[in-house]
Amino acid sequence: MTTHDEKRRRLLGRLGRCLVCTTPVLALAAGGAALQASAGDTASGTVMSEETLLLASNQAEAEAEAEAEGEAEAEGEAEAEGEAEAEGEAEGEAEGEAEGGDSAAVTRPDDYTPAYREDGANDPELLARGEELYYDTSLSSNGLACASCHGSDGDDVGYNATFEQPFPHQVAMASEQFGMPEVHADEMTQVCMVAPMEADPLPWDSEDLTSLSAYMVEVQKRFAGEAHDL
Ligand code: HEC
Repeated sequence: MTTHDEKRRRLLGRLGRCLVCTTPVLALAAGGAALQASAGDTASGTVMSEETLLLASNQAEAEAEAEAEGEAEAEGEAEAEGEAEAEGEAEGEAEGEAEGGDSAAVTRPDDYTPAYREDGANDPELLARGEELYYDTSLSSNGLACASCHGSDGDDVGYNATFEQPFPHQVAMASEQFGMPEVHADEMTQVCMVAPMEADPLPWDSEDLTSLSAYMVEVQKRFAGEAHDL
């Protein structure tokens, strides 16, 4: 089972790096585990049941199957990932998921006009609403709020030095995971919605996206040590 362990380790490493795709990859993995189980059945030439396992003349084979099943159950998601990787086809798909997010979902649509100003001077009510949402864990599917990673009360953590420049600008996560050379504040908000928050992007014409983006414009100024309206 050495190769198995190696696969599992590699996959865990990849999962750790993968912010975009936990859910689809896990779904794939579950499919992979099922495929693996049925492959085992075919190999033994029987329908898998406790009885056939007991009757199997080749005890080693029975043990291998029991182990494969037992492991899949015992190791949970991480193990299931390993099984998915063992499936050639599934592996290709998993790689694809792991390496890139859907940039179309986080890129300004053609018919969209932002309802906030990226140079600042946004309505104080919009900023107040944005700040409220920044602490709202219900925006994510994983219990996180923006503030979980980016700090509260003006801490402004979890940002790189790129955040010292006004929008639009280059952000490592957006270029590496979504292939976007630079992002506007609303696009970066969508990237964080989809990737670390593991949620759907906000509707482009929503007040939520408008106010969060307006708020991020001011947080950017604060991060850069400039005058801001927060
Ligand atoms: C799980 C942690 C996490 C959560 C939650 C999260 N982010 Fe991020 N955010 C990051 C990481 C990581 C980066 C990437 C930093 C980089 O690549 O430069 C980032 C970058 C950003 C940037 C870009 C900074 C820049 O350089 O321009 C903005 C803006 C941002 N996040 C806003 C948000 C908003 C708004 C939310 C909530 C909707 C949010 N983030 C939730 C982790 C998180």
